[in-house]
Amino acid sequence: MILILFIFVCVFTFMYYFNVNKNYWKIRNVVQVNYAAWDFLFGKCSLPEVYRNIYNAYPNENYVGMYLNTKPVLVLKNLEDIRAVLKDSHCFHSRGYYVNDKEDLIDNLLLMNDYHRWKLIRQRISPVFTIKKLKSMSRSIYQCSDSLIDYIKNYQCENNKSIFEKFNFVAIGSAIFGVDFVTKNALQSPIVNALCTPLPFFQRCLFSLKLIISIQFPIVLRVLNIKIFDDYKNLILEIIQKVSKYRHETPGKRDDYIDVYMEIQNYESIQDASGCKINIDQFVASQAFSFFVAGVETTASAVDYTLLELANNEHILEKVHKEIDGIFHKYKQLNYYNVEAMEYLDMVLSESLRKYPPIGSMQRVATEDAILPSNLKVDKGVYVIIPTYALHMDPKYFSEPDIFDPERFSADNINKIKKYTYLPFSGENRICIGAKYARLHMKIMLAVLLREFTLKSCMYRVTTFEPNLFTLSSSKVEYELIPRHKRV
Ligand code: HEM
Repeated sequence: MILILFIFVCVFTFMYYFNVNKNYWKIRNVVQVNYAAWDFLFGKCSLPEVYRNIYNAYPNENYVGMYLNTKPVLVLKNLEDIRAVLKDSHCFHSRGYYVNDKEDLIDNLLLMNDYHRWKLIRQRISPVFTIKKLKSMSRSIYQCSDSLIDYIKNYQCENNKSIFEKFNFVAIGSAIFGVDFVTKNALQSPIVNALCTPLPFFQRCLFSLKLIISIQFPIVLRVLNIKIFDDYKNLILEIIQKVSKYRHETPGKRDDYIDVYMEIQNYESIQDASGCKINIDQFVASQAFSFFVAGVETTASAVDYTLLELANNEHILEKVHKEIDGIFHKYKQLNYYNVEAMEYLDMVLSESLRKYPPIGSMQRVATEDAILPSNLKVDKGVYVIIPTYALHMDPKYFSEPDIFDPERFSADNINKIKKYTYLPFSGENRICIGAKYARLHMKIMLAVLLREFTLKSCMYRVTTFEPNLFTLSSSKVEYELIPRHKRV
């Protein structure tokens, strides 16, 4: 089977370089860029960086056409077009990742395509992130943070980002799923290690190959009945069932995802008026999986980049330390309200998400023929790209974009930011459902870390990111965490 997959990828890549669709955009009077994804295909940079290069190369265009393998792709630049695509749940609902519909774990994911199923799941999941539940989650995250500090002190040679990923599994597991990791050694637990150990090289290649096929040749996925994540399904289902059994036996609400699950567990399935129906156990396991997939790497990257910028900007670090020390001095520990009150830290985080948006671009596929506000007809099946990273680094919207300046997000300045130019959590219909949780989680991590440590610059600057499809990630970021002499 691997051989068949490999041959498919080679044949279609070959076809690309012979320009199967070579005049698609020219015929439509759209500026066309060929071979744009070359650097990405050869592992030199991420796809969001490719979009940024295209975006910058045509300052006066509303959009630029390109190809990914044989598929026509339209990179959007006009803010009205971006707004229309993000708002249009009729033509631009789908992200265009296709899955094998026999693979329950990801077929029922909130991240996926089918509109009715997405709406049903989103309605059921939204109560997980109410203010009341976020208050209780902030307690859990804070309780887990001892294990983070302990681990950093004992494993100083491990890369910071990989430590943050471990912590994120622990904190998301505890805050959202009620898995009790609240011990000092939580980051060394066998489950966390199993989840964080990178796959062996061969399995990693196979996994990437399957992902590429799911985007480029979904039909192959169905015909060969390839399942991408099935190995994880039983593990996740088992964890959720164990936790809910334990919670049935120990009464009392914890205000988390398991509470929502227990409320609907008595039904066999959930259903909406259109007749769309999802089995409860599949629904629960899928969403648990999506929270880890969507939340662990993104938050670890954001915290890592924020610390890098603080290490390189001493005056900003000083102000952050002052704010955090003031809060710990007054309240001794963190809760939802005093975390919300750290306004300067919030500005620093917002600026970090501007300069390094963990999701550097968003993709939609036209499910019907559509007309954009700038008057271009987009045929059904065409991919459109919202180039988040390019927008965040456009000097038209953010002056001197390479400079790390939290003041862009001060109370006086924040309203000057144009709508749809700042999209770290996306916008409109499919905006990140975990955005509020993520901000809380990252602020607690940063506050706890900076209470304990100060930072030393290693003069490291991010020049390029790893070759990923949507994320801007780097595992090489360098700065030093140094214990503070005077801890509040
Ligand atoms: C810094 C952290 C995070 C960033 C920057 C981020 C960013 C995003 C973005 C840009 C999207 C939309 C993608 C698109 O439209 O194609 C998204 C969707 C999503 N995110 Fe996040 N995210 C973060 C953390 C989290 C966390 C912690 C969770 C869960 C606990 C989460 C769960 C989700 C889910 C389930 C979706 C899909 C929503 C839907 O389609 O309705 N994210 N995120």
